[in-house]
Amino acid sequence: MSTPPYFNIAPDQAEAELGAPLRTRDFAEISQRYTTGRAQLEAQGRDASGARQLRLFSTWEITRYLIPVAQAHFRRVLKTNPDLPQGRTQVEGGSKWFTLDEVLRLRAFFATQGAKKRDYMPYRPSGLPAKIAAVANFKGGVGKTSTAAHLAMSAALDGYKVLVIDLDSQGSMSSIFGAKVSDEWQTVFPLLARHYATHLMAENQTRLARGDAPQPLDDTLDEARKLTAKDLIQSTHWPNIDIIGAQLNLYWAEFQIPVWRMGARSWKLWDALTDTLAEDGALDAYDLVLLDTPPALGYLTINGLAAADILLVPTGASFLEFDSTGRFFDMLHATFQSIEEGENMVARALGREGLAFEWDAVRAVITRYDSSQQAEFAGLMQGLLGPALAPQRQGFTALIGQAGEQVSGIYEADYRDFNRETYIRGRETFDETYAMFKRLLIGSWRRDELAREKGAA
Ligand SMILES: Nc1ncnc2c1ncn2[C@@H]1O[C@H](COP(=O)(O)OP(=O)(O)OP(=O)(O)O)[C@@H](O)[C@H]1O
Ligand SMILES: [Mg+2]
Repeated sequence: MSTPPYFNIAPDQAEAELGAPLRTRDFAEISQRYTTGRAQLEAQGRDASGARQLRLFSTWEITRYLIPVAQAHFRRVLKTNPDLPQGRTQVEGGSKWFTLDEVLRLRAFFATQGAKKRDYMPYRPSGLPAKIAAVANFKGGVGKTSTAAHLAMSAALDGYKVLVIDLDSQGSMSSIFGAKVSDEWQTVFPLLARHYATHLMAENQTRLARGDAPQPLDDTLDEARKLTAKDLIQSTHWPNIDIIGAQLNLYWAEFQIPVWRMGARSWKLWDALTDTLAEDGALDAYDLVLLDTPPALGYLTINGLAAADILLVPTGASFLEFDSTGRFFDMLHATFQSIEEGENMVARALGREGLAFEWDAVRAVITRYDSSQQAEFAGLMQGLLGPALAPQRQGFTALIGQAGEQVSGIYEADYRDFNRETYIRGRETFDETYAMFKRLLIGSWRRDELAREKGAA
């Protein structure tokens, strides 16, 4: 019988295999191997950077999932309106397929023609800003990016105009949407820098009035003052999803932000994202801004969380994840409380209204749920957390892993690649997550709308 592989390891042999100790410069050598490797893989077309193209949508799919009309009626309307997109067939006499752009045009047409009470266009009160939603948890790999990406796609299919912002220097969201980001100047970094520069300039006015020397703006801040969100937003292969991307250099913000804050203690760093997006018109141009955050509670995450109206916290249904998600909420409490206390000490002294962060809704969401193993624990969690946990559970589905390199997730996958029942079940679980989220979105817009009416009355 063979012994386990960790028995009888000879120290001399192990020493001989170990290799020389490594120095800092060895990282450069390892990194060089990756760089060379990456170029080779790219040349073989193995990277995910190829120009992406969104698949087509069939009549079946459109009438089942996207526009609430019967297939026969859909076909009739197309026939009697030859100016509308007519789709294309892929096999002789086969089903008609449409681009998402065409689906959006058809939806708009049905909205003007169809029965009034039907929900052709998704609800958004006019004149109210976009809602910002963040997906966050300091635990890694819990499904933040998958949840955020699927929400962006399902909201886009539903007809909303979505801006995705990648706050994670790992850039996973950016790869999903094919964003090309060469350095931090194509991430949110310049928006944060501009917010600080604007603050510093206002502060300098006061300094000058007092007869003090102004604080100089360095090149970074000068450069950032020239950039707006429009310069950073990239379009994607989805007609109604745009993105501000991220890549490794965005991590620099984690070092830079505290330095700026030291330079001007009164800078409200947590307002940077909301203020600049609002100033640049992004909250009017889009319906929904979705933030993907890194698995850490750093400055970028704090900025994202402070900007968010809706906060979703993905978590697995296991004790370990329950425990760490609990600590995440504890850290959120401590972090935002200390920001509020710091601000309110000054505010009280000046007789001003204090700072109180507010979110329309905060929900933990069970992700990668396996009903055969986790039903009992998920039920316990539901009992313990009550309304803080969304009752919908996002099922573990092979459709995500299987979708391949050029497509990301269920909404990009072609249902013909799967057994139709498997597809329907896999899709259902993400549709339910979206429905849960859409309820929060519509509910919070409606609350704002009612408050506005009350204010006007
Ligand atoms: N519902 C699901 N079914 C199956 N696999 C899933 C599901 N959701 C996520 N995954 C997989 O789990 C892994 C981690 O997911 P994801 O990248 O979304 O997590 P994350 O929280 O964003 O991670 P990080 O903390 O590194 O940013 C990925 O490989 C993803 O494909
Ligand atoms: Mg992620």
